[in-house]
Amino acid sequence: MTVRIRTENERDYDQVYQVNCTAFGNREDEAKLVERIRSTSYWVPELSLIAEQDDEIVGHLLLSKAAVVDGETQHEVIVLAPIAVKPEYQKHGIGKQLIREGLERCRQLGYYIVLLIGHPSYYPQFGFQPARSYGLELKQFEVPDDVFMVCELKENELLHLRGELKYPAAFFG
Ligand SMILES: CC(C)(COP(=O)(O)OP(=O)(O)OC[C@H]1O[C@@H](n2cnc3c(N)ncnc32)[C@H](O)[C@@H]1OP(=O)(O)O)[C@@H](O)C(=O)NCCC(=O)NCCS
Repeated sequence: MTVRIRTENERDYDQVYQVNCTAFGNREDEAKLVERIRSTSYWVPELSLIAEQDDEIVGHLLLSKAAVVDGETQHEVIVLAPIAVKPEYQKHGIGKQLIREGLERCRQLGYYIVLLIGHPSYYPQFGFQPARSYGLELKQFEVPDDVFMVCELKENELLHLRGELKYPAAFFG
């Protein structure tokens, strides 16, 4: 399915809210999460992407800033969440197009580490690998090793990265 991927703008906010609600079974948690992140300094406008078919927004991906904390040192990283494709448009490669474009934009903006909590059968195709095997930790959410994943967008970026991923407060309501 051919869709256009572009940067979200303010006029898209209502439709983006609806896409997130319907994709997540009519719950509003993820739609509200997007709204909260937008109002923080962790928001990167170019990393909120929509997939559009004609004038209909059918998918949305948000990448935003977070920190990996290692003692006194804070490394700026990107976290991927949420990603949503309207149910009737799923499994046509739209999620894949959003993620590919999102990761490319991260690279262009100089963000080389992306982390997420997600399905272990979906994200490895984009280069995501279990993060704990690279010495990264996650304590805010109790999740199995294979769903906490990291992707390095520049060679050797992970070599010197250690510490705990801290999602910003916006993730906790
Ligand atoms: C997760 C989600 C964003 C994926 O979006 P999507 O557009 O369906 O994703 P894709 O089409 O790229 O890939 C989905 C599957 O369809 C398959 N697929 C892709 N193109 C296809 C095509 N043309 N025909 C048939 N299958 C296809 C992919 O191989 C993939 O299968 P895999 O997981 O076994 O690799 C979407 O399912 C969604 O919104 N889910 C609800 C919200 C959610 O759970 N979000 C993730 C947590 S934040």
